[in-house]
Amino acid sequence: MSGPTITGIEACVFDAYGTLLDFNSAVMRCADEIGDNATLLSDIWRQKQLQYTWLRSLMGTHADFWQVTGEALDFSLAATGIDNPALREKLMTLYRELDAFEEVRETLRALQQANMKTAILSNGAPEMLDAAVKANGLEDLLDDVQSVEDVGIFKPDPRVYQMSVDRLGIAKENICFMSSNGWDAAGAASFGFKVIWINRYKQPAEHLPSRPDLVIDTLGPLPEILGLATL
Ligand code: LAC
Repeated sequence: MSGPTITGIEACVFDAYGTLLDFNSAVMRCADEIGDNATLLSDIWRQKQLQYTWLRSLMGTHADFWQVTGEALDFSLAATGIDNPALREKLMTLYRELDAFEEVRETLRALQQANMKTAILSNGAPEMLDAAVKANGLEDLLDDVQSVEDVGIFKPDPRVYQMSVDRLGIAKENICFMSSNGWDAAGAASFGFKVIWINRYKQPAEHLPSRPDLVIDTLGPLPEILGLATL
């Protein structure tokens, strides 16, 4: 990379599930027990979880992400023909302590050492986010953990991104938002954040009104992209 490509940033705000936290890690830890349908189960679980957030927002029937995650798991277990209440409980417990992706800690530390503010902005309910942050020992590397529960509606409603602006006290054009979810990246760009799409899952570009400023595969290059000294 020849130099910083995004400048003037005062805070880095991260999506949680899929961006910092590997949502597949819950199912993968039970892969032997689940057998051949493990990947399918995890895929359906994630897709339904997101669909339920959008549907509930449109229906005006908000419930927190913990409830939505459980309801999506119930659908995905039924869809893969699994009737196992003990496994359901185990998967929900594991969802509270999902693995962080391998470069997360090092990247957050580099940002912190460069005096960059860091925060999570997630659909996750506060207790879910706190549990996952603690399970990965990230609490000292984040200035704030922001949950949509403060506004009572899911991403990509603009009120969610505005809540982050209000809590940080930083103008939206000086906030860089990172998400592995193309639709979340589009929502944040439409709101007015600088946006980097972390395309971990090698997805094609979304055909939505706003585009991210940059697309990269992992969080690793972030400090350099922002022009911060790398260690
Ligand atoms: C989140 C979901 C969208 O953490 O991944 O908000």
